[in-house]
Amino acid sequence: MPRKALIAANWKMYKTPAEAKAFVDAFLPLVAGHTRDEMALFPSPVLLPTVMAAARGSNVAVGAQNIHFAEEGAYTGETSIAQLKAVGGTHTLIGHSERRQYFAETDEIVNKKLHAALKHGLVPVVCVGEVLAEREAGQTGQVLKTQVTGAFAGITAEMAAPIVIAYEPVWAIGTGKTATPEMAADAHRIIRAEVAGLLGAGVAAKMRILYGGSVKPENATALLGQEEIDGALVGGASLKPDSFAKIVKY
Ligand code: PGA
Repeated sequence: MPRKALIAANWKMYKTPAEAKAFVDAFLPLVAGHTRDEMALFPSPVLLPTVMAAARGSNVAVGAQNIHFAEEGAYTGETSIAQLKAVGGTHTLIGHSERRQYFAETDEIVNKKLHAALKHGLVPVVCVGEVLAEREAGQTGQVLKTQVTGAFAGITAEMAAPIVIAYEPVWAIGTGKTATPEMAADAHRIIRAEVAGLLGAGVAAKMRILYGGSVKPENATALLGQEEIDGALVGGASLKPDSFAKIVKY
């Protein structure tokens, strides 16, 4: 059974509300009627109401780049799942490498966020990936296994259906260096085998694993054409409507 691809835009800390609205207004006509893949935009929290309003009724979902695992409380600067859902958000990234690197997110925090997201019915996109030193030391497989096992602690096969994983080799993010389609597919196979070990082959076969790291219109076809690659998480090349639409329509 083929897995429906998810092509997602991680806008990081870019765009004003006016720029975000202009993006959505230009992007939607470019992908109108596109049903082969699911599409999602991940803007900063302050942009969510604007993007949601502009995308309402379209085939494009909207989510957060980060959520807190607590229901509510004294967590200055954070966004709760209830707040995200109240403005219409349906998806969230969890454990992006920039969150791990600059905001000290550990596998344990990723795990708490995954449980909270599933409890509240969000589609979680759990990000994993090795840094360059780990790849060069031949540790990629072990790093991915540790991250997946840590993220999935306490997750059962019954809970797992909404989960999406994004494999993002950290050395490929924002660097213009892309994993070759074969390298990405190898990593995806390691991740899928780990999921199979934890949750069973049936769950693993259905789980979508996206690739992220310098995906561009020029390399989208080669990457997304791999059977193991079930979509893309796109940073830089998702900031312009025509570029992101080209990736969606690879
Ligand atoms: P990039 O970012 O496409 O700019 O490499 C991907 C990501 O960080 O999700």
